[in-house]
Amino acid sequence: MKLAVLVSGRGSNLQALIDACAAEDYPAEIALVLSNKADAYGLERARQADIPTAVLSHKDFADRESFDEAMSAKIEEAGAELVCLAGFMRLLSDGFVRKWRDRLINIHPSLLPAYKGLHVHERAIEEGARFSGCTVHFVRPAMDEGPIISQAVVPVHPTDTPDDLAARILEQEHVIYPRAVKFIAEGRVRVSAERVLINDHAVPDGAMSNPAG
Ligand code: GAR
Repeated sequence: MKLAVLVSGRGSNLQALIDACAAEDYPAEIALVLSNKADAYGLERARQADIPTAVLSHKDFADRESFDEAMSAKIEEAGAELVCLAGFMRLLSDGFVRKWRDRLINIHPSLLPAYKGLHVHERAIEEGARFSGCTVHFVRPAMDEGPIISQAVVPVHPTDTPDDLAARILEQEHVIYPRAVKFIAEGRVRVSAERVLINDHAVPDGAMSNPAG
Protein backbone atom coordinates (compact mmCIF):
# COMPACT_ATOMS: atom_id res chain seq x y z
CA MET A 1 0.00 0.00 0.00
CA LYS A 2 1.35 3.40 -0.96
CA LEU A 3 1.40 6.01 1.80
CA ALA A 4 1.55 9.79 1.85
CA VAL A 5 2.91 11.10 5.14
CA LEU A 6 2.12 14.71 6.09
CA VAL A 7 4.50 16.46 8.49
CA SER A 8 5.06 19.94 9.87
CA GLY A 9 8.14 19.44 12.01
CA ARG A 10 10.56 16.98 13.56
CA GLY A 11 9.13 13.89 11.87
CA SER A 12 10.04 11.21 14.41
CA ASN A 13 6.80 9.35 13.63
CA LEU A 14 7.67 9.62 9.94
CA GLN A 15 11.03 8.05 10.82
CA ALA A 16 9.26 5.19 12.59
CA LEU A 17 7.24 4.59 9.42
CA ILE A 18 10.35 4.86 7.20
CA ASP A 19 12.10 2.29 9.40
CA ALA A 20 9.09 -0.04 9.37
CA CYS A 21 8.81 0.20 5.57
CA ALA A 22 12.45 -0.83 5.25
CA ALA A 23 11.57 -4.35 6.41
CA GLU A 24 11.05 -6.61 3.43
CA ASP A 25 7.78 -8.09 4.67
CA TYR A 26 6.18 -4.74 5.64
CA PRO A 27 3.09 -4.28 3.46
CA ALA A 28 3.43 -0.53 2.80
CA GLU A 29 5.81 1.98 1.24
CA ILE A 30 5.99 5.76 1.47
CA ALA A 31 5.30 7.35 -1.91
CA LEU A 32 5.36 10.97 -0.73
CA VAL A 33 6.26 13.11 2.26
CA LEU A 34 4.42 16.40 2.13
CA SER A 35 4.98 19.37 4.42
CA ASN A 36 3.45 22.79 4.85
CA LYS A 37 6.81 24.00 6.17
CA ALA A 38 9.92 24.12 3.96
CA ASP A 39 12.22 23.77 6.98
CA ALA A 40 10.50 20.75 8.55
CA TYR A 41 13.16 18.25 9.60
CA GLY A 42 10.83 15.49 8.40
CA LEU A 43 11.65 16.53 4.81
CA GLU A 44 15.33 15.90 5.49
CA ARG A 45 14.50 12.44 6.85
CA ALA A 46 12.58 11.71 3.65
CA ARG A 47 15.42 12.89 1.43
CA GLN A 48 17.87 10.71 3.32
CA ALA A 49 15.60 7.73 2.63
CA ASP A 50 15.16 8.66 -1.07
CA ILE A 51 11.46 9.35 -0.65
CA PRO A 52 9.87 12.01 -2.90
CA THR A 53 8.94 15.20 -1.04
CA ALA A 54 6.64 18.14 -1.66
CA VAL A 55 6.24 21.46 0.13
CA LEU A 56 3.08 23.50 -0.05
CA SER A 57 2.88 26.70 1.94
CA HIS A 58 -0.60 27.64 3.03
CA LYS A 59 0.49 31.24 2.65
CA ASP A 60 0.44 30.77 -1.14
CA PHE A 61 -3.27 29.90 -1.15
CA ALA A 62 -6.34 32.08 -0.78
CA ASP A 63 -8.12 29.80 1.67
CA ARG A 64 -7.99 26.47 3.47
CA GLU A 65 -10.05 24.73 0.76
CA SER A 66 -7.72 25.61 -2.10
CA PHE A 67 -4.66 24.65 -0.04
CA ASP A 68 -6.23 21.29 0.79
CA GLU A 69 -7.16 20.72 -2.85
CA ALA A 70 -3.54 21.29 -3.84
CA MET A 71 -2.49 18.76 -1.19
CA SER A 72 -4.99 16.23 -2.51
CA ALA A 73 -3.64 16.71 -6.03
CA LYS A 74 -0.07 15.99 -4.86
CA ILE A 75 -1.19 12.95 -2.89
CA GLU A 76 -3.12 11.54 -5.84
CA GLU A 77 -0.25 12.27 -8.21
CA ALA A 78 1.96 10.13 -5.97
CA GLY A 79 -0.57 7.31 -6.15
CA ALA A 80 -1.01 7.20 -2.37
CA GLU A 81 -3.88 5.14 -1.01
CA LEU A 82 -3.52 6.06 2.66
CA VAL A 83 -2.72 9.48 4.12
CA CYS A 84 -0.88 9.47 7.46
CA LEU A 85 -0.76 12.66 9.50
CA ALA A 86 2.46 12.64 11.51
CA GLY A 87 2.70 15.86 13.47
CA PHE A 88 0.90 17.77 10.74
CA MET A 89 -0.19 20.87 12.62
CA ARG A 90 -2.86 22.34 10.37
CA LEU A 91 -6.59 21.88 10.61
CA LEU A 92 -8.02 20.17 7.54
CA SER A 93 -11.09 21.33 5.62
CA ASP A 94 -14.25 19.23 5.69
CA GLY A 95 -13.82 18.67 1.96
CA PHE A 96 -10.37 17.11 2.41
CA VAL A 97 -11.52 14.93 5.29
CA ARG A 98 -14.57 13.78 3.29
CA LYS A 99 -12.50 13.01 0.20
CA TRP A 100 -10.06 10.81 2.18
CA ARG A 101 -12.62 9.34 4.56
CA ASP A 102 -11.34 6.06 6.06
CA ARG A 103 -8.10 6.57 4.12
CA LEU A 104 -6.79 9.31 6.42
CA ILE A 105 -5.29 8.58 9.83
CA ASN A 106 -3.70 10.62 12.61
CA ILE A 107 -1.56 10.02 15.66
CA HIS A 108 -2.27 12.06 18.75
CA PRO A 109 -0.32 12.07 22.04
CA SER A 110 -3.16 11.34 24.44
CA LEU A 111 -5.70 8.65 25.16
CA LEU A 112 -8.52 10.07 23.07
CA PRO A 113 -11.21 11.18 23.67
CA ALA A 114 -9.26 12.72 26.59
CA TYR A 115 -7.03 15.72 25.93
CA LYS A 116 -7.80 16.77 22.40
CA GLY A 117 -5.89 19.72 20.97
CA LEU A 118 -2.64 21.24 22.18
CA HIS A 119 -0.65 21.23 25.46
CA VAL A 120 -1.92 17.74 26.21
CA HIS A 121 0.91 16.74 28.56
CA GLU A 122 0.70 19.92 30.64
CA ARG A 123 -3.01 19.36 31.05
CA ALA A 124 -2.73 15.66 31.96
CA ILE A 125 -0.10 16.45 34.63
CA GLU A 126 -2.00 19.45 35.97
CA GLU A 127 -5.20 17.45 36.34
CA GLY A 128 -3.45 14.60 38.11
CA ALA A 129 -4.06 11.91 35.49
CA ARG A 130 -2.41 8.63 36.54
CA PHE A 131 -2.09 7.40 32.97
CA SER A 132 -1.84 8.93 29.54
CA GLY A 133 -0.81 7.54 26.17
CA CYS A 134 -1.34 7.86 22.46
CA THR A 135 -3.99 7.10 19.88
CA VAL A 136 -4.06 6.28 16.17
CA HIS A 137 -7.45 7.09 14.69
CA PHE A 138 -9.28 7.69 11.44
CA VAL A 139 -9.82 11.41 10.89
CA ARG A 140 -13.21 13.07 11.01
CA PRO A 141 -13.98 16.77 10.52
CA ALA A 142 -13.84 17.63 14.25
CA MET A 143 -10.27 17.96 15.56
CA ASP A 144 -8.79 14.81 17.16
CA GLU A 145 -12.00 12.87 16.67
CA GLY A 146 -12.72 9.70 14.76
CA PRO A 147 -12.80 5.90 15.06
CA ILE A 148 -9.91 4.64 17.20
CA ILE A 149 -7.59 2.08 15.60
CA SER A 150 -4.93 1.62 18.26
CA GLN A 151 -3.89 2.99 21.65
CA ALA A 152 -0.99 2.61 24.05
CA VAL A 153 -1.02 3.50 27.73
CA VAL A 154 1.85 4.94 29.77
CA PRO A 155 1.99 5.95 33.44
CA VAL A 156 2.20 9.58 34.52
CA HIS A 157 4.78 9.85 37.31
CA PRO A 158 4.30 12.45 40.06
CA THR A 159 7.63 14.09 39.22
CA ASP A 160 7.03 14.22 35.44
CA THR A 161 7.61 17.42 33.52
CA PRO A 162 5.58 17.75 30.30
CA ASP A 163 8.75 16.87 28.39
CA ASP A 164 9.25 13.68 30.43
CA LEU A 165 5.72 12.56 29.71
CA ALA A 166 5.95 13.54 26.03
CA ALA A 167 9.10 11.44 25.63
CA ARG A 168 7.52 8.40 27.33
CA ILE A 169 4.48 8.67 25.07
CA LEU A 170 6.50 9.33 21.90
CA GLU A 171 8.30 6.03 22.35
CA GLN A 172 4.94 4.28 22.22
CA GLU A 173 3.75 6.38 19.26
CA HIS A 174 6.65 4.89 17.31
CA VAL A 175 5.35 1.41 18.15
CA ILE A 176 1.64 1.81 17.48
CA TYR A 177 1.74 3.98 14.34
CA PRO A 178 3.64 1.52 12.12
CA ARG A 179 1.55 -1.30 13.58
CA ALA A 180 -1.75 0.44 12.78
CA VAL A 181 -0.55 1.15 9.22
CA LYS A 182 0.43 -2.51 8.87
CA PHE A 183 -3.03 -3.66 9.93
CA ILE A 184 -4.64 -1.29 7.39
CA ALA A 185 -2.27 -2.27 4.58
CA GLU A 186 -3.04 -5.92 5.25
CA GLY A 187 -6.71 -5.13 4.68
CA ARG A 188 -7.62 -6.20 8.21
CA VAL A 189 -9.21 -2.91 9.31
CA ARG A 190 -12.71 -1.67 8.63
CA VAL A 191 -15.01 0.93 10.09
CA SER A 192 -18.49 -0.16 11.01
CA ALA A 193 -20.94 2.22 12.69
CA GLU A 194 -17.98 4.50 13.46
CA ARG A 195 -16.11 1.79 15.35
CA VAL A 196 -12.96 0.12 14.09
CA LEU A 197 -12.97 -3.63 13.62
CA ILE A 198 -9.69 -5.47 13.11
CA ASN A 199 -10.08 -8.97 11.72
CA ASP A 200 -13.79 -8.34 12.34
CA HIS A 201 -13.18 -8.09 16.10
CA ALA A 202 -13.94 -5.06 18.22
CA VAL A 203 -11.17 -5.71 20.76
CA PRO A 204 -8.29 -7.01 18.70
CA ASP A 205 -4.94 -8.31 19.89
CA GLY A 206 -2.17 -5.93 19.00
CA ALA A 207 -4.30 -2.82 18.78
CA MET A 208 -3.99 -2.21 22.49
CA SER A 209 -0.70 -1.77 24.19
CA ASN A 210 -0.12 -1.38 27.90
CA PRO A 211 3.61 -1.47 28.42
CA ALA A 212 3.15 -0.66 32.11
CA GLY A 213 1.55 -4.08 32.54
C1 GAR B 1 3.71 13.73 18.03
O1 GAR B 1 3.80 13.62 19.43
C2 GAR B 1 2.28 13.62 17.57
O2 GAR B 1 1.53 12.71 18.33
C3 GAR B 1 1.78 15.03 17.77
O3 GAR B 1 2.85 15.83 17.34
C4 GAR B 1 4.07 15.15 17.58
C5 GAR B 1 4.85 15.13 16.30
O4 GAR B 1 6.14 14.60 16.50
N1 GAR B 1 0.58 15.28 17.04
C6 GAR B 1 -0.42 16.05 17.48
O5 GAR B 1 -0.39 16.64 18.54
C7 GAR B 1 -1.62 16.11 16.55
N2 GAR B 1 -2.76 16.64 17.21
P1 GAR B 1 7.00 14.09 15.30
O6 GAR B 1 7.05 15.22 14.27
O7 GAR B 1 8.35 13.83 15.88
O8 GAR B 1 6.36 12.84 14.73
